[in-house]
Amino acid sequence: MEDPHLARVVVSEDELHARIRELGKEITADYASAPPLLLGVLKGAFMFMADLARCIDLPVDFDFMAVSSYGSATRSSGVVRIVKDLDADLTGRHVLIVEDIIDSGLTLQYLRKNLLSRGPVSVEVCALLVKDGLQKVDPQLRYVGFRIPPEFVIGYGLDVAERYRNLPYIPQYQP
Ligand code: IMP
Ligand code: MG
Repeated sequence: MEDPHLARVVVSEDELHARIRELGKEITADYASAPPLLLGVLKGAFMFMADLARCIDLPVDFDFMAVSSYGSATRSSGVVRIVKDLDADLTGRHVLIVEDIIDSGLTLQYLRKNLLSRGPVSVEVCALLVKDGLQKVDPQLRYVGFRIPPEFVIGYGLDVAERYRNLPYIPQYQP
């Protein structure tokens, strides 16, 4: 079925899988002596988290957090509300935040500050996508999947009004 909202492909299914395998190898090497707690940010990161985790050859733990940022549908305000908190105690843990996309970077800035107050040994970030030139502060990303132009994208976990998360690739959204 043709969907007129799906514009050009920004990241293809093959590109996703190849890059995620590379990220998994890097993470496996970097954390060999201290396996991390993978912290998925719901809902957008669920698919990336599942594929990335299968490419990490270490005894990792999993936890999830859900945050919602106030603002319009396509712009975040930096005011973030925790909708679902972690189950895990972060004391003494190496935490690797798994994020779908960094736009302004404000959601991540809030999240990092919040997690750092809970006594982890380290907090690093693995972001699948980063939009070029939009971050107001350096988002300090240890791992990045793809840098993309500042346009609205969907698929592979990313939504518009809860739709399109199950697309296996990432197209630009045509309103
Ligand atoms: P930030 O706080 O501006 O960095 O916004 C990050 C959050 O906004 C992401 O975790 C997504 O949930 C959402 N977001 C930002 N850009 C897009 C996009 O292009 N498509 C879908 N969701 C997006
Ligand atoms: Mg998100």
